[in-house]
Amino acid sequence: MTITKYLAALVLLAAVGVWAAAQTIKPGEIWLDNRGQHIQAHGGGIIKLGDTYYWFGEDRTQGLDPSKKFVSCYSSKDLANWTFRNQVLKLSDPENLGRRFVVERPKVFYNAKTKKYVMYMHFDVNYALARVGVATSDTVDGDYKFVTSFRPLGQESRDIGQFIDDDGSAYLIFEDRPAKGFHIAKLSDDYLTVEKDVCLIRAPLEGGAIVHYKGLYYALGSALTGWKPNPNKYATATSLEGPWSEFKDIAPPEANTYGSQSTMLLKVVGTKATTVIFMGDMWKPQTQWDSRYLWMPVEIGDGKLRLPEPKEFTIDVVTGEAVIKK
Ligand code: GAL
Repeated sequence: MTITKYLAALVLLAAVGVWAAAQTIKPGEIWLDNRGQHIQAHGGGIIKLGDTYYWFGEDRTQGLDPSKKFVSCYSSKDLANWTFRNQVLKLSDPENLGRRFVVERPKVFYNAKTKKYVMYMHFDVNYALARVGVATSDTVDGDYKFVTSFRPLGQESRDIGQFIDDDGSAYLIFEDRPAKGFHIAKLSDDYLTVEKDVCLIRAPLEGGAIVHYKGLYYALGSALTGWKPNPNKYATATSLEGPWSEFKDIAPPEANTYGSQSTMLLKVVGTKATTVIFMGDMWKPQTQWDSRYLWMPVEIGDGKLRLPEPKEFTIDVVTGEAVIKK
C-alpha cells in the first residue's frame, strides 16, 4: 500500500468512526452548521432518504430581503452534524398579498412515483388567508418552485405538520380554527393536493405531530398561544381515524414544554432500539434568527408519552440508541 493510499484509508476509517459513533445533541444551545452559522430551520421537518436526513425549515437569518420568504435545507447522517445544502425556497410574494405574507412550517415529502419533492408550507397574510402553499423540485435541495396555494379540503389551515406512516402513506396535519381542532388528511397520489380527511381531532392544538410506535399512533400539539410556549399535549389511537384518547400533558404543565413548541416527532429505527425524538422550537419572536431547537428523546410506550427535562443526549442513528447525559 502506498503512503497516499494508507492515509486515504485512515481518513476514511476516521470518517466512518465519526459517523458511526453516537453524537451529542444539546437542546437550547446554538447549533452550528458546517459553515459555522446557526442553523436556520425553524418550524421544521425532517425526511430520511437512504442514510441521509434532510432538515427543512424557516430561514430567518438576520438581514434577509424582507419582501421574500426563505426556506433552508440541511443534511446529516447522524442528526448532529448538519451541512447547509441550499436556501431551497426564496419566495417573493407569488400572489400579490403584500409585504405581510408569511411562509411558515415548511414540510417536504418525496413522491417516489413522480420522483418529485413536494413542499407544503403555511401560506398566509395577516394569518387570515389560512392556506397551504405547495412548491416542487426535482432534487431534494432545490430550487423549489411555487405551484399553488389553497385551503386543504376547503378548510382553514394554519400550522401544518407532516406524517409519513410505516407503509409510506403521506399525511398533512393542519390546524382548523373554525372546527376547533386539527385534521389528519391524506395527500393525493402525486402529493400535489390534499385528498381525503382521515380524521378531525377536535382539540384546539397546533404544531401537530404524529408518530407510530409499537402499534399505537401518538399525536401531539401545542395550545394556540402564538410564540409563547404552553403545555403541549398528546393523545393515542390504534388507527389514524381514531377514536383518539383524551389529551394529556407531555411534561409538567408549569414547565410549558420547557420553553418550546412542537414541530415534529422523529422516529429513529436502529438495529437495537427505536427512539422517538421530540423536535420543538424555542421561539425568540423579537430575534427570530436566534430561535433555538429543543430536541429530546421521549419516554414512550403503552399509551404514554413523556418529554423529559432537557439535557444533553447522544443519539446513535445506526443502533437507534439514545442516552441522556446525567
Ligand atoms: C404560532 C405558530 C407559529 C407562528 C406564530 C405566529 O402559534 O405555531 O408557527 O405562526 O404562531 O404568531
